[in-house]
Amino acid sequence: MFRSGSGRDHAVADFLAALETAVMADAPEGSEERGAAALVFDRCRRRTGAVAASAPVESPVCGVLPGALAVAQPALRQAVAEALAALAPRLRWKPRASATDPAFRDAHANATVLGPGGIEEREDVWIGVTLMAPNVDYPEHSHPPEEVYLALTPGEWWNARMDWTDPGPHGLIYNPPGIAHRMRSGETPFVAVWLLPS
Ligand SMILES: [Fe+2]
Repeated sequence: MFRSGSGRDHAVADFLAALETAVMADAPEGSEERGAAALVFDRCRRRTGAVAASAPVESPVCGVLPGALAVAQPALRQAVAEALAALAPRLRWKPRASATDPAFRDAHANATVLGPGGIEEREDVWIGVTLMAPNVDYPEHSHPPEEVYLALTPGEWWNARMDWTDPGPHGLIYNPPGIAHRMRSGETPFVAVWLLPS
């Protein structure tokens, strides 16, 4: 549904289809996360952005990605992981601009799949991935758009209205617009997909 006649890159279309299936399966009817995710997928369905010509960028932490994606659970999230594995070599993996501590800088990376600087360049959505090595704390940050996270591995999230929470294999994390939030990995690498209507 994201592919036929849209002119969309096939690997991006496959990733979007797997992501929508996994997110919507675990987003309760009428929930904030379902509303935000539906908005993002509707925008992607309505219009396809240009494929970016920029060269991929690797990060030192990319070495843990294949192993982390291989054990993603359950089946719907494993499908997202497989679609992401196919895209991973084309992504631009970058640390947070504010990451000055070398140990943190080399232990995490973000990559945009659809959105500014992504494989599909567009301004109306952000869909991307955060990868972290074990035992890494991602610092508190905020942004105007609301945000939904789909965890592909164990990990914990905090926001100003929620204590530290591991959403588990069937949970989602929702961050309301502008809220302060953080995340952290445990004993294993962390991979999570984020979706924001911008
Ligand atoms: Fe965020």
